[in-house]
Amino acid sequence: MLSDQVQKEIRGELEHYPTPRAACIEALKIVQKHERWVSDEALQEVAALIGIAAAELEGVATFYNLIYRQPVGEHVILLCDSVSCWLTGCEKIRSGLRERLGVDYGQTTADGRYTLLPMACLGNCDHAPSLMIDEDLHQDLTPEALDGILEEVE
Ligand code: FES
Repeated sequence: MLSDQVQKEIRGELEHYPTPRAACIEALKIVQKHERWVSDEALQEVAALIGIAAAELEGVATFYNLIYRQPVGEHVILLCDSVSCWLTGCEKIRSGLRERLGVDYGQTTADGRYTLLPMACLGNCDHAPSLMIDEDLHQDLTPEALDGILEEVE
């Protein structure tokens, strides 16, 4: 069930948009900010709160790949696997993360700390390969650099 705080924030967000539909993504982001992901139950409650069909909201959530519809770990690693990153060795970075964390795409570490997900272009192609951990962008990656990057994560 959506908390009072989440409902309040979503209602507040609705005031900034011309139609409830326009506020869909922001409403889902609010749920995710508090819960880390958006469950089916939460999605249905958000749809009811903003007054659109749950199926329509589901469509938005599915299209927008930064809305997580499965539980994720404390930190989400988004590894770019688009062309520039692929050409510059994102598969080596993926292997490096697999070795260090024991997870591959779509998986969460046993301690619940990291989830690894593939991501379309992060818009940082001139510094490929790139990844994001939560809001932090890391670029010009090498497998060796991963230790330092992971150590920095709070
Ligand atoms: S292809 Fe990876 S940042 Fe653009």
